[in-house]
Formats: sequence, C-alpha cells, structure tokens
Amino acid sequence: MELDTFEQLLTPTGRDLLAEVAARAGVESDLALGTSLRRDHPPELVAAAVTQNHLRGQARRKLGEDAARMYFTHDALEQATRASVSRARTKRLTASGTVAVVDLGCGIGGDLVAFARAGLRVRGVERDPVRAAMARANLGALGLDGEVIEADLGDVQPQTDEVPFLDPARRDAHGRVFDPAAMTPPWDVVAQFLTRPAVVKTLPGFPHAILPEGVEAQWVSDGGDLVEACLWGPGLATAPRRATALPSGAELIGFGDPGEIGDVGGWLHEPDDAVIRAGLVGELATRMGGHLVDGHLAYVTTDEAHTDPLARSFRIVEELPYREKPLRAALTRHDVGTLTIKKRGVDVVPEQLVKRLKLKGSRTATVILARIDDGARAFLVEETGHG
Ligand SMILES: C[S@@+](CC[C@H](N)C(=O)[O-])C[C@H]1O[C@@H](n2cnc3c(N)ncnc32)[C@H](O)[C@@H]1O
Repeated sequence: MELDTFEQLLTPTGRDLLAEVAARAGVESDLALGTSLRRDHPPELVAAAVTQNHLRGQARRKLGEDAARMYFTHDALEQATRASVSRARTKRLTASGTVAVVDLGCGIGGDLVAFARAGLRVRGVERDPVRAAMARANLGALGLDGEVIEADLGDVQPQTDEVPFLDPARRDAHGRVFDPAAMTPPWDVVAQFLTRPAVVKTLPGFPHAILPEGVEAQWVSDGGDLVEACLWGPGLATAPRRATALPSGAELIGFGDPGEIGDVGGWLHEPDDAVIRAGLVGELATRMGGHLVDGHLAYVTTDEAHTDPLARSFRIVEELPYREKPLRAALTRHDVGTLTIKKRGVDVVPEQLVKRLKLKGSRTATVILARIDDGARAFLVEETGHG
C-alpha cells in the first residue's frame, strides 16, 4: 500500500469507509462490495479498506481484540510478535525497573503496543514509511502514548534511560532466513547493542556459539509452538539460558549441562521445544529426578511417575518389537485400531507406517519409536501428564 492511500484511510472518510466494509463484508462478496463502494470512493481507497478488513480478521489470532482497531500490511502482520509473547517480555522488562524502551525496527508496532500499554515510555523507529505510519496510528487507535520516528535505526541514539529493543526481520525476498547474518539488520549490527541493557528478539534456531558473554538467551514457546529466542543484555540477564513455555509461564534455567545417561525406566518424558532448543534437557532430567536415554535424543526417563510443566509424560505400557510384522501382531493383541506414532532419531514416516500396519482394533494408542544406543526401539505408552 502507498503511504498516501494509508493516510486517506486515516481521514474521517477513510475511517467511515473501513467501518462500512467491516459491517458489510460478512454479508456481501468482496466483488459486490467493491463494485458498490467504488461508485463513491476512489478504487485504491476501496481496495485498501477491503484489504485492511481482511488483515484485521487474520490478526485476531495473533493480537486478540486489539486487531479490530489496528492497521497492517500483510508482511508486517506476519512479522508482528504474538500479543501473549510481547506481554510476557514486557512483564519481565517492567519487573526489571525499566521505564523506557526504544524499539529499533518497530514494524507496525506489535511489541511497541505491549510496551506502551504496560506504562513504559516508548519510541518506535522504523525505516519503512508505511509501517512507521501504521505503528503511529496503532498507538493512537489503542489510546496509547508514544512516538514513532521514520528513520534508519543507525541514525537514532538511544537515550540514557531507554532500553533498546530489536526484532530484526527474519525474511528476505526468498522467504524465511535462518542465518543471523542474513537478518535485517544483521547480527553484527544487533550484537553491538548487547553490551548493555538491551533486548533482542531473534530466531528460535539462534546458535548458542555466537551468544556474547554476559547475555542471557531465553527460548520461548507459546501454546506448544517454539516462537523465538529472546536475548537479554548485561544488566537484564539473570540466567545463562532459560526456557519459557507460555501461556503458563513455566520456566527452567541452566547452563546447558549435558546430563546423565542411563537405562530406559518406566516413564518417558518429552521436553517442550523451548527446553530442547535451549539445550536444557539435562537440567530438566535433573529437575525430574531422572536421566537421559541417549546423548542425542531429547527424551528424559524416570523410574517413578513424574510430571513437569515443561514436558509431556508417558508411562511405558510395554516395549514392543521394532520390526513391522511383529509390531503389527503386538498392536493387534492390544486391540489397537487408531495409532499415534511419535518418533525420534529413526527414519520412519509415521503416517505411512500407520497405513501399512492396517490396524483394525477398537482402541487408541501411542507408540514412541526411538533410536537409543544405536538401536531402534518401540514403546507402547500412555500419556500421564502434560505441562
Ligand atoms: C520483524 S519486524 C518488527 C516487528 C515488530 N516487533 C512487531 O511486533 O510488529 C522488523 C522491522 O525492522 C525494520 N527495520 C529493519 N532494518 C531497519 C533499520 N536499519 N532501521 C529501521 N528499521 C529497520 C523493518 O522494516 C521491519 O519492519
């Protein structure tokens, strides 16, 4: 969208048009609605209002009720932080005594809104003129205070009481990028901020090896999806590594201890992805009074029943043969008809295996297939706890 079209959308006429689109969109097709509205409004304004209405609908999942009053571009919405995640980040910032944040590359303001709503003084900096205008409009639409500057972040000096926040773009013209050097701004620019209290949202696959000294890396999952690694600079860092699962906020901190390895006990526990990416499976095993089953496999085992908010727990009902024919016979003996297969370290396509097994029983079951000590093993399990 062009900046002047967006600016027209913010005028009383543009707002009335957007409200009309919202009211009529559910009952009329886009085509019929567009044709009718174009009689009184310029086509680009009608197109912008129809698109905006669609994006508001899509944004609801990520941003909740706020979405209905905010403005987006398709790409900027994809890049915006989920409200649950930005709220959790903001809570930690306010608890640290932070009073002001400069959001360097604020997009349409997903994080900026959360900072402002928590009472922090906020400045957003965004080099894309449409996104900068949208971030400004979004603060206003939600009744929040804050300033948004259209500028390159390199030209803006953080004030002494402002904590810099950076959420570098993780997409280029070809799609998602997985290399911190390919982020915009790239890692070498971002890292310069991490010598002081600063916060950086980055890729969940962020490599541990390049984490600067004194910086905490926090891996965050939300509703089971691994969403980001958040880096906390000196002065805000309170642990070497942290795994956080939202919405519960359950946490585990540690150094990345490789952990003890031992025999498979009576229970298997599957760590939350945040724990796995944080490299804290060893610490989770210790917290659960268990150990790992293999140095390469993210499964914890215990002899007793244990649950942890950062793991799904399974009681081993029986170890089954791994080979397909005897596995089928064993599952038939258990009257299994509907099978869920979880696999770690084995070359199996679960859906294809389920199809080939042709089970006809009446019960539902879960089987874990795992490579342990270089041998493939199968366990019939029942889930005993989740988070
Ligand atoms: C991932 S988005 C930010 C999303 C935001 N945190 C949110 O929740 O809506 C990154 C933004 O940084 C902006 N950006 C990248 N490099 C920049 C630079 N050098 N100066 C200013 N903005 C920049 C991009 O235009 C993009 O809008």
